[in-house]
Amino acid sequence: MSERSRVAILISGRGSNMAALIYAARAADCAYEVVLVTGDRPDAPGLDLADAEGIPTARFPRPAAKDKSQFFEALTEALEAEQVDLIALAGFMRIIPADFVEGWRGRILNIHPSLLPKYKGVGTHEAVLGARETSTGASVHLVSNELDSGEVLGQVEVAVLPGDDPKTLAERVLIAEHQLYPRILSEYAARPFNSEWIEGQVDGLARQLPEVGRKTSHGSPGWSVGGEKGKLFAIIANHHHGEDAVGLLIKASGPDEMTGLIEAQPDVYYWPKYYGASGWLGVKLNRRDVDWGQVRDWLERSWRACAPPRLTKLMRAADEF
Ligand code: GRF
Repeated sequence: MSERSRVAILISGRGSNMAALIYAARAADCAYEVVLVTGDRPDAPGLDLADAEGIPTARFPRPAAKDKSQFFEALTEALEAEQVDLIALAGFMRIIPADFVEGWRGRILNIHPSLLPKYKGVGTHEAVLGARETSTGASVHLVSNELDSGEVLGQVEVAVLPGDDPKTLAERVLIAEHQLYPRILSEYAARPFNSEWIEGQVDGLARQLPEVGRKTSHGSPGWSVGGEKGKLFAIIANHHHGEDAVGLLIKASGPDEMTGLIEAQPDVYYWPKYYGASGWLGVKLNRRDVDWGQVRDWLERSWRACAPPRLTKLMRAADEF
């Protein structure tokens, strides 16, 4: 397995989800480790538990409304000092400023006690009972700048019992939360290294280009342009011949460009074994910090280099508008 993702948990209260995340991380196959627990309340009971479990904690003074930005600055410093990859909110009761969310885009997760998009915000269980729902649940989602509205990464359903009140329902949903959150966080932490997910991302981008088909090249998934018999313009080399990389192979302009890129950014570019001589450049995709916009640009460049003239002519005409 690749290195574990470094997770910070942010809490405001008892921290039962935090505890579930910490204990799940003790399993050898968990894809994350908890490197920091912190929050906006220095007296949150969850912090004492984290201390007792030997997890580093940071206790910031409770921020007054006017010191909000100071709090988030201090938090950013602590996250950077611990080289945090992902933030897990677990009962963190503060609205997070838009610029902070933007800076951590795709790297903050939250758990909410309803089946989103239903019952966002507070008072969930009361609302569920009031609407006479027969089932509810919990959701883990990415945090965006709209309350409880980022991409849902996983959900679990929980039955509503005839005698339930908000407290009994909350208790049962909480048991389900404790199962759901560690599993989904671990899956999400492993996602950048998951070759099926990587292939799906590439496929989605490649198919945005005209006349693209799927084709295999010596058993590796590839994409061709101009129908079934068309030329390959992209291949995925999945740990090909023992390589570390799950790489995207695309056509660069030639050996000079390839050498320059590989020397300048050896973490990103490489000479693929047995392919390099035929002009394929490797872009390593099993990394946490892949720039998918750049991958899209490479696919388009390679498509242009391989497409028949009738298609490139169309593209050039489109460029002029
Ligand atoms: C949980 O119900 C969670 O869904 C919500 O806040 C509560 C936190 O509880 N976001 P705990 O502190 O994890 O016990």
